[in-house]
Amino acid sequence: MDNPSGPGTENKTLPQAGNPPVVSSSTSPPAVAPPQSKPPVASGAIKKPKQDKPPEHDLGIWRISRRNFFSLAGWAAFFVFLATSTIGTLRMMFPRILYEPPSAFKAGFPQDYIVGEVSEKYKDDYRVWIIRDSEGFYALSAICTHLGCTPRWLEAENKFKCPCHGSGFRRSGINFEGPAPRPLERLRIALADDGQILIDRNIKFLFENGDWVKPEAFLKYS
Ligand code: FES
Repeated sequence: MDNPSGPGTENKTLPQAGNPPVVSSSTSPPAVAPPQSKPPVASGAIKKPKQDKPPEHDLGIWRISRRNFFSLAGWAAFFVFLATSTIGTLRMMFPRILYEPPSAFKAGFPQDYIVGEVSEKYKDDYRVWIIRDSEGFYALSAICTHLGCTPRWLEAENKFKCPCHGSGFRRSGINFEGPAPRPLERLRIALADDGQILIDRNIKFLFENGDWVKPEAFLKYS
């Protein structure tokens, strides 16, 4: 419908009692916010879009959080405990035992020995010399009474000589030179049931105690 008031005139609604006047703005321009001034951009300084750079020391999968660290430490302690327990158990199954030759051994038949001989046949294995004289046998311990070295039998000099500090012992075992404080020890010697010479290194006879005259310190044989 045409506006009876003519073109260009504003549509005004007459105020009614109790209503505030309403102004129609069909022809008035809308309110526009004033343009904001942009900061000047320096020529040549073109900003590049930011890119996500990896951190300088990025450890990737090896980055460990504190929680993971304690978890790993716990597992490591558990495996260390398991390993030490296993090793200990295995060690128990294989104890360190020093296998020594038996203290008593058979040394063959009396007729195997020559009168006047100092036999070194059992020196390496048992540290024992077996000496036969005109009346029988005796066994000497091949342990120096100074500090326990093994003396040598010197046939030409008819004596035992200790290489450590020079102690000398006669064929009988009596000490006569060097620092050895006492004679060599004699060992139990007897005949076994089968007729062989039986020597027991656990039973010793000491000259200084008068033991050499005891029956088992000497085996009579002729
Ligand atoms: S150990 Fe034999 S002389 Fe010292």
